[in-house]
Amino acid sequence: MFKTKICEILNIQYPIILGGMLWIGKSDLVAAVSEAGGLGLMGAGGMTIEEIESECAHVTEKTKKPFGVNIPLVRPDSDEMINAAIKKGASVIATSSGSPKKFTQMIQDQGCRVIHVVANVTFAKKSEDAGVDAVAAEGFEAGGHNGHDEITTMALIPQVASAVDIPVIAAGGIADGRGLVAALALGAKGVQMGTRFLATHEAAAHQNYKDAIVKMTDVGTSITGRTTIGPTRAINNQLTEMIINAEKEGAKPEELFEMIGEGRSAMACIEGNCEEGSLYCGQIGGAVKEIKSARQIVDDMISEAKTIVESLNPLISH
Ligand SMILES: Cc1cc2nc3c(=O)[nH]c(=O)nc-3n(C[C@H](O)[C@H](O)[C@H](O)COP(=O)(O)O)c2cc1C
Repeated sequence: MFKTKICEILNIQYPIILGGMLWIGKSDLVAAVSEAGGLGLMGAGGMTIEEIESECAHVTEKTKKPFGVNIPLVRPDSDEMINAAIKKGASVIATSSGSPKKFTQMIQDQGCRVIHVVANVTFAKKSEDAGVDAVAAEGFEAGGHNGHDEITTMALIPQVASAVDIPVIAAGGIADGRGLVAALALGAKGVQMGTRFLATHEAAAHQNYKDAIVKMTDVGTSITGRTTIGPTRAINNQLTEMIINAEKEGAKPEELFEMIGEGRSAMACIEGNCEEGSLYCGQIGGAVKEIKSARQIVDDMISEAKTIVESLNPLISH
């Protein structure tokens, strides 16, 4: 059911992908999503080469199904990260924050697939020209770092799907079967989720962080860094308020970096400090009402999507 081109090229059962999440997407969550029939992508952005190797090895102990690793190309050791992931069993490399040109061929020569994250049509076309197997097109409602163009998923997906021939994965604002059906209707061949998978038993986030998502409403996030250090969506707290106020007063990027300092994500993910830490989260967090297992999320999405498609059919029958 819902077998699309993306299932075929990634060798997975359902077109549901766990987006790479710094600190959060570690071996337990990655293996659980892959084992449930989706594709788990590890968030390797904050990991050392040794950590990537050991986390990938843990995944292969827990599942024989395909999994991948998200590599932010801003890391100067991206090539070593990629090689470590492939050596330890990853069959998909999801690249972000940089041009995929340099590494795509090298990854594919080792028998792996490449997904590149984009936030507009121009970069989707450039990624296709670079030879990637699929693009994950991420709308502005997504958690974490966002594109500067502020294009929402609803507007982005059909435009990217019309502009490229490779499969498009919709990311941003998707958390259930409704989102899956909508994404497929817009021309995507699969979905990538971060926020929904953050509120799972298997996510490596502090319980306070997961609880904050369950408690939040539709207006629970805001964007900081729009015109300064790069747009980032996170749950409203003392930290976002401090940054937004400083921006209003005209703080320069270097002053903001100085004020924020290092380790705000770890403060939230590891220490559970939900006021001073940075709680990356998408707008769809308002629809997340309980912490579930990754398998439950995948199963619920598929059965809900099936019910929706069946309920739509009578609209066109006479
Ligand atoms: C806590 C968190 C951390 C994230 N870290 C990364 C990352 O390290 N690399 C990346 O490419 N995307 C990252 N993302 C984006 C996700 O991979 C995914 O595309 C996004 O969450 C989808 O939107 P959603 O949050 O509405 O589900 C992160 C998202 C969240 C919520």
